[in-house]
Parts: sequence; structure tokens; C-alpha cells
Amino acid sequence: MESQPARPLSAGRPAEPLAGEITVPGDKSISHRALMFGALAVGQTRISGLLQGEDVLRTAAAMRALGAEIRQEGADWIVAGRGIGALTAPDDVLDMGNSGTAARLLAGILATHDFYSVMTGDASLRSRPMRRVIEPLKMSGAVFTARAGDRLPLTVQGARDALPISYRLPVASAQVKSAVLLAGLNARGITEVEEPEPTRDHSENMLRHFGADLTVGQQGKGRVIRLTGQPELRGADVTVPGDPSSAAFPLVAGLLVPGSRLTIKNVGLNPLRTGLFDSLREMGADLTVRNARIQGGESIGDVMVEHTQLTAVDVPPERAPSMIDEYLILAIACATARGTSRLRGLAELRVKESDRLAATAAMLRAGGVRVEIEGDDLIVHGSSNIPGGGVVQTHMDHRLAMSALVFGQITAAEMRIDDATFIDTSFPGFVTLMRGLGARITAA
Ligand code: S3P
Repeated sequence: MESQPARPLSAGRPAEPLAGEITVPGDKSISHRALMFGALAVGQTRISGLLQGEDVLRTAAAMRALGAEIRQEGADWIVAGRGIGALTAPDDVLDMGNSGTAARLLAGILATHDFYSVMTGDASLRSRPMRRVIEPLKMSGAVFTARAGDRLPLTVQGARDALPISYRLPVASAQVKSAVLLAGLNARGITEVEEPEPTRDHSENMLRHFGADLTVGQQGKGRVIRLTGQPELRGADVTVPGDPSSAAFPLVAGLLVPGSRLTIKNVGLNPLRTGLFDSLREMGADLTVRNARIQGGESIGDVMVEHTQLTAVDVPPERAPSMIDEYLILAIACATARGTSRLRGLAELRVKESDRLAATAAMLRAGGVRVEIEGDDLIVHGSSNIPGGGVVQTHMDHRLAMSALVFGQITAAEMRIDDATFIDTSFPGFVTLMRGLGARITAA
């Protein structure tokens, strides 16, 4: 997408409240995993509701390049798996585009397949740290060579007779946890990951769903996951719920635009993903979940939201893993709240698709909101009258672009973004969907 021309957009206050009943595209985390585990299973995996965003399409292309057969059948995606350890060497560089999840999880798979491969990505991904996966994955016997600063491009010579890894996560990261578990699938013996703070457990849920022998023990506030290596994963059906991290944008827009009322159906509500809901409720948001149910080992439900005047919030650092992708949009909600909000412990935001801590502050300042960064905390001073009128640089970051377009719905003057193209990495159809609810988004 780097080669595409930039697509600037403007967002302004809508004439009417937002209203409607919508669904959002499939969960990005679950979509990547369904393709990867499907490729490592024996037999057929049928995926319905797969996110057809650029990030996930990169994973599909990489798994094909490693020998899996992946095709579309109507709205479903079918993966004919190769079985554990049976992927084959790619004959070209694996380009993971903008996707950190695709790159880091794939590194886990490559570490325990005995062949040489090279992985790269776009300018944003090439600037993101890979040491966090290289360090633990080296313990399997794999050899990695990376560009200075442990960045992509990265070469991997996978281990011939891989050793199981035992690792305590130094940062709360579901990507690192998943990379180690994926490597463990083709290592003899027990792979063990200890996470001091629980992170999203889609890999664990899906491994069980595909028949792996996996246990999860509680340890203090955290967890220890043990996986028995070289199981026979069996292809399975996967229904992907709507992505709560995508639902967050229309949901917050509905909360902030006076008089609005919306329903978002079939949203994933895995408790390790719903920190935003907790924070918004603490701010007084009118949020209701109906039709809550379990589908394929994951919680889902319909979320209803009505405009509410919010009050400031103090978000503790331990909530970060359950809402790590939602701070940008929460910060917009804080800008309209009564009082001063403090979002604590956001160091990880600095290494996302952009430096989201700096970028959130810059976005709010561009709209005339008072904001400070103190250490790893973001402080947002709420106001009932936000001037707007600024331009937001989106730095190849989809969530920054979507947050800024929601921001424009409540500022006095329009907000502009420099480029909307990266929205397609996670939320194709975002602008059309928002316009359908009544949002004002126009070509700039
Ligand atoms: C993801 C984990 C999170 C999140 C990313 C998706 C995953 O990253 O930010 O969008 O699917 O495992 P970290 O593991 O770096 O926290």
C-alpha cells in the first residue's frame, strides 16, 4: 500500500445523530490464527467471517508460499493444511506488509521448520522491534539474522530438531506468547510460557479447538501455559466474531455524537479484549450487551450504545493488555469528558504501527485539546467545546486514521487526515459503514 497515492479525508459534525444496526469485519487476531493453525493442521479448515483486510491477506499469502492450499468458497475460506512440520521453504521473500501480528507469529512457525526464509514488511513494520520474538525463538535452535536494531528484514534458518522453549514474557504480549506456542508445535516435549499479566488468549482457545494438548494454570495475577509438542492438529471449522477493536470506532462515535443510538451485532467479547468497555462504563457510558453467547470457544454478543455525557477516567496500567489497541479512541472519548483523564502505563504504545503515545497527543493537540505525556502516562483535559480545524498525520497507522475521523464528528471545525489508505489493513469498508450511520466523512 506504500505505493498507492495518499487518500486524504475530512470529517465534520453530522447534521443528525448517528443511528443504525451494523456488524463490523471479523476479528483480526482470530483471522490470522485461523489461517496459521489451519495450515498446520491435517485436513480441512473452513473459516467463516474471516477479516479480508490487508494484514490478514498477507498471512494468507505467506501460508500459501509455505505450501498450504487456501481458497475462497463463497463467503468462507478453506485451508487444506499440511500438518505440523510439513510446511515447505518459500521461494521468495515473505512480505508481511503492515502487520506486526503476521510477522511475529510467522517467526514462531519458521523457527521450527528446517529451512531458510526471509521476512520483510512495509516502512512501518520495518521500524518495529523483532528482538522480543527473536530472543525466545532462538532457544529452539533457530538462527536469526536481522537488520540493525533487530528490525526486518529478517532471515530465519529454522531448527532441524527443535527444542521446546520455556520462557517468561518480559512484556505483556500475546504476539510473543503465540510465537513461542507456534514454535512449540514442532518441538519435542513441553513448551512453557509464563505471562505475568494475562494477554488475549485466542491462540490457546484455537489450539484446543484444533485438538492440541494445552493446559493453562493460574500463577498469581498471571498464567502459565504448557503445550505438548508435535500433536496432531485436526482441521476444524472456525467462525470469526466481529472485531471488538474495530467495533470500538463506531461505538465511541455513537457515545459522543449527541442523540445517537446504535447496535453493533456479533462482536467478540473475550474478557481479555474488553478493557475499553470497562473504561467507558467507568466514565458513565450507556453500553449494554445483549444476546451474549459462546461461539467456537469465544464469547460474543450484540453491543448497544447511546449518547452519554462522559466523565473523566483514571485507567490503571494493568488494564493495558485488555485494551492495548483502544487507547487512541479512548483518548477521543476523554477529550469530551468532564474533567481530566489519566491513562497509565502506555509504554507499549510506542512500538505499535506508529508511536501511538506521541501520535495520540499530536492528534488531540491538532484539534485544540490540552494533553500531556508524563513518563508513560497520557493526560487528557476534557472540554465541552473542541475547536478542531487541524490536520492529523496518520503515519501508516490504521487506528490513528479511524480515531481522527471519529474525532472530527465532534469538533467545531472539520478535522483532516493526510491518508486513509491504511484503514484497509484492519477495517475495509470503514468509511462507507460510518457514512451509513450518518457520520460526515468527505474527500479532502
Ligand atoms: C495482537 C496482540 C497485540 C495487539 C495486536 C494484535 C495479537 O500486540 O496490539 O493488534 O493478535 O496477538 P502485542 O502482543 O504486541 O501486545
